[in-house]
Amino acid sequence: MDEQARKKELAAKAAVDYVIENEYLGVGTGTTVSFFIAALQQSGKKVKACVSSSDATTRQLLAFGFPVVELNEIQGRIPVYVDGCDEIDANFNMIKGGGAALTGEKIVAQASDKFVCIADDTKLVKQLGAFALPLEVLPKAVEQIKKSMEGIRGVPKVRECITDYGNNIIDVSGLQIQDPLKLEEAINQLPGLVTCGIFAKRGADVLIVGSSDGIKITT
Ligand code: A5P
Repeated sequence: MDEQARKKELAAKAAVDYVIENEYLGVGTGTTVSFFIAALQQSGKKVKACVSSSDATTRQLLAFGFPVVELNEIQGRIPVYVDGCDEIDANFNMIKGGGAALTGEKIVAQASDKFVCIADDTKLVKQLGAFALPLEVLPKAVEQIKKSMEGIRGVPKVRECITDYGNNIIDVSGLQIQDPLKLEEAINQLPGLVTCGIFAKRGADVLIVGSSDGIKITT
């Protein structure tokens, strides 16, 4: 295992403490979350059921023996959501979507009371934007949204993938994101935009960072 993976695993293991037994648990997507699912299984903690953010996570949860329910099937809110990020700033604003699961992640995060973000220390940034911002867009809107991104001096590139919902991802590099909430709200207005990879309106509540010195938890 490389150094970055070790740091991810450290953060992921620490997040198990936040899991509330016999309650619903929201589960994100990505390599850090994969470590979390394995650690949760090892801990022996039992949840009522998991609400998954992607097809990939659902497959892993089922393979590890966790029950999975659809968000539409549950009453009330999810107490805890655990997920990784691509970048996070000091105010817990994030860029997410490197794994193309941003739409499911934003939906489940929005339905959760506490967002526990697990990350290695390379994800910490002063200002969001060095990581190309993922946008999930309806196929019909790709060219129009690319033009809108060029209009704010972004450099859009269509990713070679189709999302769980049959849409495209545009990765927008070159953005200096000084006001994440304002940009998220502006991008949300574009016709054909499904999900913007800025998570500012619903940022993290707890940040667990793994580094070579161990873990650091900030709330
Ligand atoms: C998935 O679409 C992303 O939002 C992931 O949560 C993010 O890319 C973190 O991924 P890793 O844990 O693989 O670094």
